[in-house]
Amino acid sequence: MEHYSIHLTINGKKYTFFVTEEDTLLDVIREKAGLTGTKQGCGCGQCGACTVIMNQKAVNSCCILALQADGSEVETIEGLDSPSGLHPIQEAYIEKGAIQCGFCTPGMIMSTKALLDQNPQPSRPEIREALSGNICRCTGYTKIEEAVQAAAAKLKEVSHES
Ligand code: FES
Ligand code: FES
Repeated sequence: MEHYSIHLTINGKKYTFFVTEEDTLLDVIREKAGLTGTKQGCGCGQCGACTVIMNQKAVNSCCILALQADGSEVETIEGLDSPSGLHPIQEAYIEKGAIQCGFCTPGMIMSTKALLDQNPQPSRPEIREALSGNICRCTGYTKIEEAVQAAAAKLKEVSHES
């Protein structure tokens, strides 16, 4: 099968990958970049486990061909790590008990980040809408929505301090 080169920036680092017409962005992130924090669930756009931020928007990486993503900037859950510890969104999810099995969590957190990057103080309906593509089988969503509100408050505090 023919291979094509693509260029991606993932979590601020530049990469060149050789991909086929069939490879998805998710395949590239997990198998070629080795960033396995992004999960594969349904593989067909239904569950949101594979959510990453591409060019400032939350997307299902299983639904995007690697060739379509050429030249894009991508953020994955690994990009939230910092030497000083967890990202405020991650802290909020832990503090509010919004994680059980954790399989949906990286995707949830990336949808949360995309929302809060655009809308730092979302209402409960706006949170529900932004996370509507992310399925969680464990938590019942209430704690996740509380975590998003807590994350918004934490990020506001951080921005006032800096
Ligand atoms: S794995 Fe991509 S939406 Fe389910
Ligand atoms: S915590 Fe288990 S699927 Fe969401």
